[in-house]
Amino acid sequence: EKGGFRHFMLKEIFEQPLTLRNTLSGRVIPDTGAVQLELGIADESLKKLERIALVACGTSWHAALLARYWLEKWVGIPVEVDIASEFRYRRLLLNERVLTVVISQSGETADTLAGLRQAASLGSPVLAICNVVGSTMTREADGVLYTHAGPEIGVASTKAFMSQMTALLLFALYMSQLRGTLPLSGQKRLGLELIGLAETLNRIIDPVRRSVQRIIESYYEARDFLFVGRGLNYPIALEGALKLKEISYIHAEGYAAGELKHGPIALIDPDMPVVALAPQDSSYPKLMSNVQEIKARQGRLIMIGTEGDTQLAELTPDLILLPKADENLLPLLCTIPAQLLAYEIAARRGCDVDQPRNLAKSVTVE
Ligand code: F6R
Repeated sequence: EKGGFRHFMLKEIFEQPLTLRNTLSGRVIPDTGAVQLELGIADESLKKLERIALVACGTSWHAALLARYWLEKWVGIPVEVDIASEFRYRRLLLNERVLTVVISQSGETADTLAGLRQAASLGSPVLAICNVVGSTMTREADGVLYTHAGPEIGVASTKAFMSQMTALLLFALYMSQLRGTLPLSGQKRLGLELIGLAETLNRIIDPVRRSVQRIIESYYEARDFLFVGRGLNYPIALEGALKLKEISYIHAEGYAAGELKHGPIALIDPDMPVVALAPQDSSYPKLMSNVQEIKARQGRLIMIGTEGDTQLAELTPDLILLPKADENLLPLLCTIPAQLLAYEIAARRGCDVDQPRNLAKSVTVE
């Protein structure tokens, strides 16, 4: 049932090119790149929206953080992102002009469901982005966008996260199409690049895994880790840290790289390895200056960067290189090394990767 893989988590990591294809299937027209979605919420009401509130927990919240960048950039609509267990207890300023989007693999997470109900009681239309067909959230929301990742067995979310990112990209492109905020050519180009990304993922997983396996021998016994990134790679830093702590029990924190100098840089020493997400996107120059500060304090670096970037080798021998891609899609690529780092370190430490202690697949308590 694990298809020759040692753990479900590894199998699910390797399934992600297929996951991406399944999430896109029937939604991006292969010839043109145009996006078509059946959300169950009238286009007219989507056109009139003034704000979007994204609500989720854990890994799903990381997908929401990414979606804010895409929606604000392409749709030009204000977006707020909340952790469901905080959202539901705030005074919510919602109405029929604010779309609430709940994001949940299981569709059963208690806090997210409570957030959905509160939003609905205030008259906000609710869209659920869910994986499990027929789950409570999909039944209660006004509209549903299924992520189509298939059953996820590993407790740590991997392919479900990939499918959430993809569904949210589609949603942002669809909204930009409806509201005419992104030139059609740009929107379709992104649609086509998304289709092509499945092939790229397929090509990189094995080589990335080999790089990771080589690197971790001198890191797997660390007690603490930092993950840093900027822009769209910041949520991936959070996700990399969450994956590592969940399955390897190593203490790990994700930071926006620009925040390091406001405190966390005090932690840097040779016992605190830092994973820096450094693909060549528009935040790269600033990220690199943050990394120089880490290097100057004897920090040990693992860098996730772009093939052909010769600057990286001056900073560390421990490199994981990814192909170039549209910068909006880079987080999907950077997710692969982040997941594999956590997986290989946990496996090397002999941890029960698929059933980490204290965790459940679906969190139905508040
Ligand atoms: C992390 C993980 C959790 C879930 C969170 C939300 O690997 O799996 O953080 O993402 O419990 O679950 P869903 O998406 O089912 O609402």
